[in-house]
Amino acid sequence: MKIFLYGVRPDEAVYLKEWENANPDVEIDYTDKIVTEETVDLAKGYNGVVMLQTQPYTRLALQKLHDFGINKISVRNVGLDGFDFKDLRDFGFSLTSVPVYSPNAIAEHTTGLMIRLLRRVPEFDEKFNNADFRWFPTIGEEINGKTVGIVGTGHIGSVVARLMLAFGAKVVAYDIKPDPYLENLGIYVDSLDEVLEQSDIITLHTPLAKRDVHMIDKAAFAKMKDGVIFINAARGGLVDTDALIEALDSGKVGGAGLDVLESENDVFQKKFDKIEDVKDPQFQALLNRKNVIMTPHTAFYTTTAVHNMVFDSLNDNLKMLNNQTPKFPVDISED
Ligand code: COI
Repeated sequence: MKIFLYGVRPDEAVYLKEWENANPDVEIDYTDKIVTEETVDLAKGYNGVVMLQTQPYTRLALQKLHDFGINKISVRNVGLDGFDFKDLRDFGFSLTSVPVYSPNAIAEHTTGLMIRLLRRVPEFDEKFNNADFRWFPTIGEEINGKTVGIVGTGHIGSVVARLMLAFGAKVVAYDIKPDPYLENLGIYVDSLDEVLEQSDIITLHTPLAKRDVHMIDKAAFAKMKDGVIFINAARGGLVDTDALIEALDSGKVGGAGLDVLESENDVFQKKFDKIEDVKDPQFQALLNRKNVIMTPHTAFYTTTAVHNMVFDSLNDNLKMLNNQTPKFPVDISED
């Protein structure tokens, strides 16, 4: 069997070697390039492909893979919004993902964003750099005692809920499929609006389904408490960024922790000479605010997560190639 991997970074290559040593009958090769209509030829002659990228997968690239006789795709990540499932169905692909490579990686990063905002770390950093070591007036807030709203309690959101409960927060959560353990704790409310209205801190943990684009829009921000802390480490497209910027300007949102942005593909994972060279207007509008912390889609990025992304995706690709049931199949029957 021959498997080709796209978008491989050097830190992943180490785990690839480990996997290869454990599976000597499988030949694996890789590129650091992502899947495009130009790079797709690299997979010619292989049986399966394993991918990771934040850029969308085009129909033409998928069609070419299909024309090479490849019909098993495994992605190394959780999010599947880069695919149009209709394309996958049309070309007869089977797909696997890695939905639980490390929910803690994202949940802990989410908590870190909250704490950095509540304890006003960007302001203390600036004071420190100016040799100002006084506390006053940069007083902070605690998670303990706050109401934390969690939108989506799947693998990641349910870990966030547990962490928040351990901090002493009151958790209010909304999900169409409640987690049985958390349901017993009585944390669920009946609507997204109730989460928006009741929470001091709101954090998003849902995938980006087409129906959820701009789930948090101007009307949603209007329902939130004044000064709410808003965290998004899920998908940029869940939030109308212009509405967020307006809500920050008006003070409706008191602080935002953003690991994802609607237009992140033009900015994140790129190196610019200086920050002014980033031309994205929304990124620039969010920059240099003491109450906004942005991280470049790094919430997932831990050694545990990367190891599991590589191993779980390759294991499942091989299972599909051997006509065995993969551990993490994706249901692509509906958009
Ligand atoms: C995901 O796993 O879906 C992520 O957002 C992480 C990133 C590697 C794209």
